[in-house]
Amino acid sequence: MPRFPIDTNDWRIIGSDKVSAIGLGTWAIRSPRAAEDVLVYAIETGLINLIDTAEMYGSGLAEEVVGRVVRRVGKDRVFVTTKMLPERLVSDEEVEKAARASLKRLGLREVDLFLIHWPTYSVTISEQVRRFERVVYMKGYARYIGVSNFDKDQLLEALTSTAKAEIVVNQVHYSVLHKNPETTSLLRVAIDNNVIIQAYTPLERGAVVRHPKIRRIAENIGRTPVQVALNYLISRPNVVAIPKTERMNHLEDILGAFGWRLPASIIEELENI
Ligand SMILES: NC(=O)c1ccc[n+]([C@@H]2O[C@H](COP(=O)([O-])OP(=O)(O)OC[C@H]3O[C@@H](n4cnc5c(N)ncnc54)[C@H](OP(=O)(O)O)[C@@H]3O)[C@@H](O)[C@H]2O)c1
Repeated sequence: MPRFPIDTNDWRIIGSDKVSAIGLGTWAIRSPRAAEDVLVYAIETGLINLIDTAEMYGSGLAEEVVGRVVRRVGKDRVFVTTKMLPERLVSDEEVEKAARASLKRLGLREVDLFLIHWPTYSVTISEQVRRFERVVYMKGYARYIGVSNFDKDQLLEALTSTAKAEIVVNQVHYSVLHKNPETTSLLRVAIDNNVIIQAYTPLERGAVVRHPKIRRIAENIGRTPVQVALNYLISRPNVVAIPKTERMNHLEDILGAFGWRLPASIIEELENI
């Protein structure tokens, strides 16, 4: 038996929204034009509606790329996540300034989901989460709020810190080659508390393609290593994978991870690599 029940749905629920179980990241974009075209194409397939960005990526350039994508496809077709640097969380004024700057680059009045990029150690978890909620959520800069790079205990503390908003997402490093969220019980806590785990670096920056066991499994079932790696993640309840690509052929490969699931026996095999 796999460690978790297999989720066969290609969509996940965040509040009253439906997001694709695979979204696209925007870190380390080389060609803004190519990235923009790939993101637009991805949304237009109807299979993907989630884009992840951050004020940090390209020092704001990635948010601008996402802003152009949103204008091309129409806001109602895309769910946008951005992230705020933790050093902003020391005062309400800094948080508000950063939120407004992100929204300006995105060309939006409010973003769907705003995350704390990683916890700051200069204030407590409750204090930073309460401040983030008070400014970003209460003032209407984001429809939902969440966190990133929070461990299990930090997530539990964050969950009890908000006054009104729910913490809907924790975005963490998670891949078939890096299963910390499974081994530390973070995923279990997320499932129990209705939190989506957004799995970043799900392709290990391309390393999954070269992994001999993943390659062998992929060959045996007539899929690609990227599809096996992503399918493993979206087989998990409450998990959304956010690979990054700015190449059409890589996007086609990623899209091939939808619409099927690895057999339980292979998921078990992958749990142990
Ligand atoms: N919250 C955080 O702290 C945090 C940290 C890291 C990342 N993230 C988010 O997660 C996203 C994804 O993580 P990541 O960018 O670190 O790593 P990743 O998605 O594991 O890997 C991206 C790399 O894989 C390549 N790639 C994509 N599709 C491929 C395919 N089908 N075959 C072979 N190679 C392929 C991409 O190149 P091409 O572009 O040339 O296709 C890129 O170099 C980021 O973009 C960012 O949005 C968040």
